[in-house]
Amino acid sequence: MESRRYAFVMDPMDTVIVDRDSSFVLMEEAQRRGAAIYHLEPRHLRVRGGDLRGTATRIRVGRPHVYEVLSGPEEVDLGAMDAVFMRKDPPFDMDYIFATMLLDLVRERTVVVNDPVGIRNANEKIATLRFPEICPATLLDRDMGNLREFAANAPGAVVVKPWDGNGGRGVFVAMKGDRNLGSILETLTGEGRRHVLVQHYVPEIRQGDKRIVLVDGEPMGAFLRVPGEHDHRGNMHVGARVVPCDIGARDLEICGRIAPFLREQGLLFAGIDVIGGLLTEINVTSPTGLQEIRRFHGIRIEEAILDRVEAMRKP
Ligand SMILES: Nc1ncnc2c1ncn2[C@@H]1O[C@H](COP(=O)(O)OP(=O)(O)O)[C@@H](O)[C@H]1O
Ligand SMILES: [Mg+2]
Repeated sequence: MESRRYAFVMDPMDTVIVDRDSSFVLMEEAQRRGAAIYHLEPRHLRVRGGDLRGTATRIRVGRPHVYEVLSGPEEVDLGAMDAVFMRKDPPFDMDYIFATMLLDLVRERTVVVNDPVGIRNANEKIATLRFPEICPATLLDRDMGNLREFAANAPGAVVVKPWDGNGGRGVFVAMKGDRNLGSILETLTGEGRRHVLVQHYVPEIRQGDKRIVLVDGEPMGAFLRVPGEHDHRGNMHVGARVVPCDIGARDLEICGRIAPFLREQGLLFAGIDVIGGLLTEINVTSPTGLQEIRRFHGIRIEEAILDRVEAMRKP
């Protein structure tokens, strides 16, 4: 078998953290299988004569030095790759959307993971709202009266968060009757110019925000991010503690409920967030968690991902 060529469209290699990044273990696994690894950033993509091309460097990854450049930079044809991994980190902004549009151009010729159309369709928080029966009660709106009324009718505290945020940025808890609510809503909506999510606060967050990693809709492993004493947010970015956990019956139910959606949208590698048995996020842009699950459970999810990618390869 001739060796495979995989392109990784992502952030600069100098930002990669060897013992944290899921992209790193995906590259490591691809390399272990004898594949050539090409790295490029979204800004290096171009369309020339109808082909999606990009200026890439061929690299070898390793620990602890992260990577070395083997050759390049050189212009490569993305459509001629055996697979393209879209692993750019959020923000999910217009540049991101633009990159998914370019990747659309090679979907017929090669495997793109995750499917750029699926990524574009599935905003991490809005996608959960297709499954209201397994989510905390939520209102997505910009109307101040409606938002205030929803908060007033909630049984307890509410969480107010931007629909396009990540890493816990701009996520506020407003207690029942909190006099900061008006100000929080004005700030996050930009005086009513942007939609915002108001969601019932789930007190079980104290036990942790559970990340479940799914491959092709199948739950593969999970861990908890437990908020610190001085912050309500279960984001690793802001110091949440990572602890192992199992996949329970309720988790299986949630995964089973969303699996058809993930498969339909070509979202091979997804990470969902569950608080107190309720779904709060479906992360598909550049999900993470592979290294945590490997450390806790010895499960190498990157193998399952690469197996699928190899099986999906276009002739
Ligand atoms: N409904 C909720 N109930 C309790 N805590 C929540 C809720 N929604 C979010 N949080 C808290 O805020 C953090 C970040 O919210 P999340 O929706 O995951 O957005 P982000 O994309 O910024 O991670 C969560 O880890 C959790 O600690
Ligand atoms: Mg989150």
